[in-house]
Amino acid sequence: METARVLEISSKLDISDIDWEAAKAAGITEEEEFILTYFADIEAQTIIYMRDLLHTTAIDDPGVIGFLSAWNYEEYFHGEALAKVLDVCGNPLQQDRIAAVRRNATWGEKLLAWVTSKVSRFLNDRFVTLYMTWGAVQEFTTHAGYQRIRETTKNPVLDEIVKRIMKQERVHFSWYYNNAKKRLEANPSHRKLVRFMLERFWSPVGAGVKTDEEVARLFTDLFGEGYGDKLVTDVDHKIGQLPGMDGIQIMGSWFSGNVQPLLGRS
Ligand SMILES: [Fe+2]
Ligand SMILES: [Fe+2]
Repeated sequence: METARVLEISSKLDISDIDWEAAKAAGITEEEEFILTYFADIEAQTIIYMRDLLHTTAIDDPGVIGFLSAWNYEEYFHGEALAKVLDVCGNPLQQDRIAAVRRNATWGEKLLAWVTSKVSRFLNDRFVTLYMTWGAVQEFTTHAGYQRIRETTKNPVLDEIVKRIMKQERVHFSWYYNNAKKRLEANPSHRKLVRFMLERFWSPVGAGVKTDEEVARLFTDLFGEGYGDKLVTDVDHKIGQLPGMDGIQIMGSWFSGNVQPLLGRS
């Protein structure tokens, strides 16, 4: 998807017609409280991630600034909608939640942002391709997470809100994926680096501000027995279709190292 098209269809998530009384009456489970808090936190942190990105060469690509503007705007309202669900169901997030979550950012995360901005200048054009491919993995995974919320929730209002969010997540994924594909096709010399970085350094959205236990719990709650294998296959298969990424193991290696031990498998 082209940036112009994203800008054309971009909009604030519409929840004006949502029946909040019905959301409250249906309620959420303890697991859902944890999952929705995690999702609300990472959606709300998008602007911080964008700040870090603005220090890299990713913004040298003419389409990126336009996309980032629309993307950040949409993600913000995903966070707001989820926070509202939590609120009406009796689990309000604290007032200064964005800053509080940010305070959890590890020194490693802050250092990584600084190193990334420096490395991006060295990698130059190759960094843009890496950023697009990395973004495709994150959006695909986020979409899969929302899909699992829809499959498991008994709250019809939450289901409806997540359905609307997912529609926008598909646009985000499509933008990242198609741009990654174009760039990997046009630049065979970028492929090795992108593959290496993803296989070596990839971690799920939120890993920088959530503890390892929280990230693993999210995946265990959402992708328990049976569903984890599907997630691994889906992510690695989809990214594996990009030029030079055949047989790549991104989710596969992360999942087996971080989640499978918790599921009692080795
Ligand atoms: Fe989102
Ligand atoms: Fe997204």
